Amino acid sequence: MAYRLVISLIWFGGLCLSARVKKFPTYVDKCHQDDTDFTKCMLKAIQNVKPHLKSGIPEFRLPKMDPLILPEVGLDAGAGFIAKFENVEIYDADKFTIRKFDIDLDEDKIKFDMSFPHIRIKAHYSIFGKVLFFNLDGSGPADGNITNCRVMATVNGERYVNQDKQYLKLTDIAIEGMDFGKPNFQFYNLFKNNPELTEQTNRILNDNMEELLNDLRPNVEQTIGKTVLEFIGRVFTRFSIEELFPK
Ligand SMILES: *[C@@H]1O[C@H](CO)[C@@H](O)[C@H](O)[C@H]1NC(C)=O
Repeated sequence: MAYRLVISLIWFGGLCLSARVKKFPTYVDKCHQDDTDFTKCMLKAIQNVKPHLKSGIPEFRLPKMDPLILPEVGLDAGAGFIAKFENVEIYDADKFTIRKFDIDLDEDKIKFDMSFPHIRIKAHYSIFGKVLFFNLDGSGPADGNITNCRVMATVNGERYVNQDKQYLKLTDIAIEGMDFGKPNFQFYNLFKNNPELTEQTNRILNDNMEELLNDLRPNVEQTIGKTVLEFIGRVFTRFSIEELFPK
């Protein structure tokens, strides 16, 4: 009896141990860092990863990306108003196209250039302050569509050693270019009990959205940068450089 118990404990212990072993997604071919076609291999690997981003990739500790959830985004660029977005849901950000994705392991840098043909954003907004020539003080549901958004950026990393293995810590991101394409937002309930004024204001806001987003650019870039860094960073925290890109 005791013997059987010991056997099953060992078996159970082994099961627990194997569950903790890091697994690499089976559908991703590893790219060898000394391969002359490393960049090409990486692009292919990302294409293979892409369809799995929607529901998340547990092996990389990546949460589901469609929708991507941001609990709170604050925009306060000293542009005369404060906007807060809560429970932000970002749809279709996993349906990107890649123009460039270079991982430079000599410089510990990642340079990318990606386009997002269509992104939909839903959130609860509150806006307070002067926007264009309106004095706003409203809150409610917000819905937005952005088409042909493009982000060009460089992520900088730093190596550290954990249990004799080298890891890459992504420290900061510099956004070199960002094009918001054609955004269209709807802020519901902007003026309570005045749907006409709400609609009119929404129209004017959208007519001037490019300019508005430009005023908020540092804030928007910071939010996007932080999100990208967190997201990609998870892969590099989980796996060492050698595990990700064998020699
Ligand atoms: C965004 O796009 C969806 C579907 O294409 C549409 O139903 C929705 O009304 C759009 N929202 C805005 C604010 O344009």
